[in-house]
Amino acid sequence: MKRRTAVLISGRGSNLKALIDAARDPRFPAEIALVISNEPEAPGLKLAQEAGIAAQVIAHRPFRGDRAAHEAAIDHALTAAEIELVCLAGYMRLLTPFLVGRWAGRMLNIHPSLLPAFPGLHTHARALAAGAKVHGCTVHLVTEEMDSGPILVQAAVPVLPDDDEATLAARVLAQEHVIYPLALRLLAGGEAGKPASPASRLVNPLPIGAEAP
Ligand code: GAR
Repeated sequence: MKRRTAVLISGRGSNLKALIDAARDPRFPAEIALVISNEPEAPGLKLAQEAGIAAQVIAHRPFRGDRAAHEAAIDHALTAAEIELVCLAGYMRLLTPFLVGRWAGRMLNIHPSLLPAFPGLHTHARALAAGAKVHGCTVHLVTEEMDSGPILVQAAVPVLPDDDEATLAARVLAQEHVIYPLALRLLAGGEAGKPASPASRLVNPLPIGAEAP
């Protein structure tokens, strides 16, 4: 049985699309059963509709000042749809301990840096400003502290001399679309906590000392 999975978005939804595409494979252990956006105009909602997936807007603005009530509404929708796993995919709201606790061990987040480097926003600009030679992305379990839960998969990319924020972001995003399906496959298939070769968890590793292409 495929694990019923919800994806929470706030915008474009390219990671949502990567998860939808991966889940089409009959052998993939999760199905994308619900998409929730806190932004009524999120382009990702259209991707969900095109794929025939139930999509709901649970806007945060009507709940202004009452984060707990907004999260209770999300939790209610997840429970009503019999969701087992949750993927945050560009969901740009900080979660309170309530929702994190409800979904502990069952909620993933994708972050556009090699955590623990560059938690928070503007990761690509910060990597460039720091002179990083390697950058990347991370999928991790969500815990109370932002961008800091146990890591399931990371992918590394080189930072090239001519990079600006847009070129670097695009290189990282291409890897996000690889590792998010991989991480969901690990979690849904019950493989997430098992020991494995580190190479299977680090996609596209750069040999130490290698010149960036
Ligand atoms: C992705 O790059 C994701 O890693 C990032 O937002 C983008 C969403 O793109 N998430 C965060 O920064 C979370 N702190 P998408 O809507 O096309 O998937």
